[in-house]
Amino acid sequence: MNINNKFYRTVWMGNGIIHTINQLLLPEKFEIVSLNNYHDVANSIKTMIIRGAPAIGAMGAYGLAQAINQLNEIDLDKINMVKTYLFETRPTAHDLAHGLNFVYDQVSSEKDLSQIKKVAKDAAEEYADLSVQACKKIGELGNRLIKSGNGILTHCNAGALATVDWGTALAPIRMAHYEGKNVFVFVDETRPRLQGTKITAWELAQEGIPHAIIADNAAGFYLQKGDIHLVITGADRIAQNGDAANKIGTYEKAVIAKENNIPFYIAAPLTTIDFHCESGDRIPIEERDEKEILELNNRRIAPLESPAKNPAFDITPARYITGIITEKGVFAPQDIHKLA
Ligand code: MRU
Repeated sequence: MNINNKFYRTVWMGNGIIHTINQLLLPEKFEIVSLNNYHDVANSIKTMIIRGAPAIGAMGAYGLAQAINQLNEIDLDKINMVKTYLFETRPTAHDLAHGLNFVYDQVSSEKDLSQIKKVAKDAAEEYADLSVQACKKIGELGNRLIKSGNGILTHCNAGALATVDWGTALAPIRMAHYEGKNVFVFVDETRPRLQGTKITAWELAQEGIPHAIIADNAAGFYLQKGDIHLVITGADRIAQNGDAANKIGTYEKAVIAKENNIPFYIAAPLTTIDFHCESGDRIPIEERDEKEILELNNRRIAPLESPAKNPAFDITPARYITGIITEKGVFAPQDIHKLA
């Protein structure tokens, strides 16, 4: 992505140090964080310095490659321990397992220390490059679904910062804008962490893409009014049967879209599809700290007696999904298993 005339990916590695944009500080501050070891990497995923399914997949790949490059001897137990440690940072996004396995599978039979380090590093770079290519392709294919004059609703942040570059849901919108189509993006604020307000809106503003932030509970109003012509969101994990986990609140947007005959698309690379997971009810849903609901800017806003519940994702059943935009084409959710 282009920020102040400089080109950035969301995550990259140089001289053994992993770098990422600190997403906790946006939009006030653009800051690059350096991660020196797998503890830093795990912390960056847990605290959501980096978030978004494909982005944490690439971070996992780089994190494992970095740990391997810090070994003094080949130690498969340590490599397995780091892989598990990074895998356990967040449970829902399938890309994290994919990124870790992509590196692990290439190094597990290596017997030479300098060779294993090189293979690990090359694998992580390859993973990031493939991720960028996949998202760009999603942009090209998804752009075909967008007409000039369309209002598009999106939820959470499925932009460049949720991937290595381009984004998933935002990639088709970017392409449409670059092609000169007149698009307007309705950005759900995305309580409780406000990825829409803080990150999606920031990305769109950087590129001058027309948009407005709306309260999460305003989406139905605009869907009913006819101002929104299609909905595009990302996904954290897609099951074999086409059910999709995405940021909490996605399900209700899909239901209201269907009620109003508005197409609802999920944009996601193949790394997000869990071909071993039969259906959405098997997808683990992360439950986050209740403070995210009870506090605003670190200040309690709820009665002291009140607890909160804070699931980070929900499942949109396949029947509400018009199509899944992947780098291999746009598929009906019930056909997604064919990509295995
Ligand atoms: O909790 P987050 O911010 O990691 O959740 C991210 C989302 O739900 C995104 O929509 C999803 O990862 C797709 S990103 C390309």
